[in-house]
Amino acid sequence: MADKKIITVLGATGAQGGGLVRAIQHDASSPFRARAVTRNPASDAAKALHALGAEVVAGDVDDEASLTRAFTGAHGVFGVTFFWAHMSPEREIADAARMAKVAKATKVAHFLWSTLEDTRKWVPLSDNRMPTLGGKYKVPHFDAKGESNHFFTDAGVPTTMLNTSFYWDNFIYFGAGPKPGPDGKLLLTMPMGDKKLPGIAAEDIGKCAYGVFTRGAEFIGKSIGIAGEHLTGAEMAAGLTRALGKPVLYNDVAPEVYRSFGFPGADDLGNMFQFKRDFNADFCAARSIEFSRSLNPALQNFAQWLSANAAKIPLE
Ligand SMILES: NC(=O)c1ccc[n+]([C@@H]2O[C@H](COP(=O)([O-])OP(=O)(O)OC[C@H]3O[C@@H](n4cnc5c(N)ncnc54)[C@H](OP(=O)(O)O)[C@@H]3O)[C@@H](O)[C@H]2O)c1
Repeated sequence: MADKKIITVLGATGAQGGGLVRAIQHDASSPFRARAVTRNPASDAAKALHALGAEVVAGDVDDEASLTRAFTGAHGVFGVTFFWAHMSPEREIADAARMAKVAKATKVAHFLWSTLEDTRKWVPLSDNRMPTLGGKYKVPHFDAKGESNHFFTDAGVPTTMLNTSFYWDNFIYFGAGPKPGPDGKLLLTMPMGDKKLPGIAAEDIGKCAYGVFTRGAEFIGKSIGIAGEHLTGAEMAAGLTRALGKPVLYNDVAPEVYRSFGFPGADDLGNMFQFKRDFNADFCAARSIEFSRSLNPALQNFAQWLSANAAKIPLE
């Protein structure tokens, strides 16, 4: 074990980072060992990673000294920020800047930054098709990540920019699944028109990340994107209908209707779906399924994800 290179994983007890820790530790012949960063090493989730053979260390992205300890001696770092924990793009930007600074100082050889597009390159603030949010963003949780890419390149950190996709797990944990409409029929509500939404099993993000670290040098300085399948709302509703054994209809609403739903982040997500709809060719082209499968041969499509997970989707 001592000769294995360390990959420090932020968000290790969560969706993206957890998948990477499991991918590393499940591969007995891996050249890597995961160092899982958590704010609470005593949690059940952290203990489960330790049981897989990962090193578990205390750390908080807001605490530079803890990041320095977590990155020191690591070959690679998987960096992710936690927008939905605080919903502050400024905090996300500050966290990314801190990660880049510490990665440079600790001489990390390969940083994999979980980012997303800065949508303002497609929809400048002057474009009124969608409202400007927080005074300077169109899709805050995308823009903050994309805007932060430069911290890594400016600092000269050997970085791969990883553009992720909508987790199908949002149907279970994020309230994005089918819900009964006024007549009781299940509706999958998304303002995507007839355009395709790149989606992925959250667990596959970490498996793809593992593929990036394994292939290593060829991806340094590159921006890549991953998805398990690109599907229209109607195609997702048809898949859900088959998996759940009850009809699910695609409910295509206008983005302004979605933004008005009023739950925290509805405006951000309404703008996000509109961006994915209006710039669909660019957004899908940046997330090749074939490429994703080359990183992770076990990549799941939606039907495979559903067959393992449909029973967990709350339908109320
Ligand atoms: N949902 C989607 O479809 C989707 C798609 C693409 C990108 N994203 C992005 O994914 C990011 C979140 O990643 P995720 O879904 O993997 O997260 P997650 O499942 O919510 O887990 C995040 C983990 O990070 C840890 N954490 C939270 N705050 C922390 C902090 N201040 N310092 C250190 N660790 C902290 C927590 O672990 P401990 O409690 O153990 O510390 C938690 O288990 C967001 O920025 C979101 O925008 C989401």
